[in-house]
Amino acid sequence: MPPTETITERAIGVFDSGIGGLSVLQALRAEMPQERFIYWSDSAFAPYGERSDAFVIERSHDITEQLIAKGKVKCVVVACNTATAVAIESLRQQYPQLPFVGVEPALKPAIGITHTGRVGVIGTHGTLQSARFQKLLSTVQQEASPKACEFVVQACKGLALAIEQQTEKAQTDVHEVEHLCQQYLHAMGSFGKGPGEIDSLVLGCTHYVFAQDILRRLVGPDVHLISTGEAVAKQTQRLCATATNSRSAQTTEFKQAADAIQLWTTGSLRALAHAAERWLQLPPECCHRVEGTASTIGPSL
Ligand code: DGL
Repeated sequence: MPPTETITERAIGVFDSGIGGLSVLQALRAEMPQERFIYWSDSAFAPYGERSDAFVIERSHDITEQLIAKGKVKCVVVACNTATAVAIESLRQQYPQLPFVGVEPALKPAIGITHTGRVGVIGTHGTLQSARFQKLLSTVQQEASPKACEFVVQACKGLALAIEQQTEKAQTDVHEVEHLCQQYLHAMGSFGKGPGEIDSLVLGCTHYVFAQDILRRLVGPDVHLISTGEAVAKQTQRLCATATNSRSAQTTEFKQAADAIQLWTTGSLRALAHAAERWLQLPPECCHRVEGTASTIGPSL
């Protein structure tokens, strides 16, 4: 970032159960290079998708408190489909002055893209069984009418955790991730642009963006992979512009990436640093560990 660039002082808070939300942070940085970001990776408590709603709601509130304490955030991006599905309404109620942006599976864009009328959706159990997702699904289906569209929905138990652990172990060890992708895609049916085939695949979990190369290889070149990072970044930009104006935020200058972006983890600092370097080209100095939490990825309940 050029040293002379002006940066608004209040940061944008971003959180996920782990490193998945870095895919959203990537898009946020591209859209708003002048902003400060504080990212929270809750890896010690991942995966959220296999936890109870109460657990995810409690974590989301705790993280929001800590983001506010760390950087007086002007907005929070819930860069996690699962936390958005179960916790965003209660966050909005608890913090009425703070704008929240959530992520949800891109079903609507998929309707505009599909030609075969069969759209695959992959996500966590928590997201796909939530009332919020079920409501989205029926709304989108009604709006799509008379264009017939069938959604083939598949919960991918263990996939987010495998992506998380792959980052922790070694960047090249993709065996478990590949195995799970293969298994779940196989269960969904045939992919391609032929009649009756699934020609669009919605990535309904921010972690899955980091398995895109594997998914691409498995579904073939003709299938559209649809994620939400860019749309979320644009929405955040619209919201933050309003928040910034109404609060007449101070401005300051940041000379290093580490001034503009802080990444915090409750889990492995090494895994976060790997991911930050690999996907965001950020130096290890941007990464910090939240003290007082377990150093390994927590078991699912
Ligand atoms: N990355 C998250 C999501 O988009 C959560 C994955 C998990 O922790 O299960 O749903």
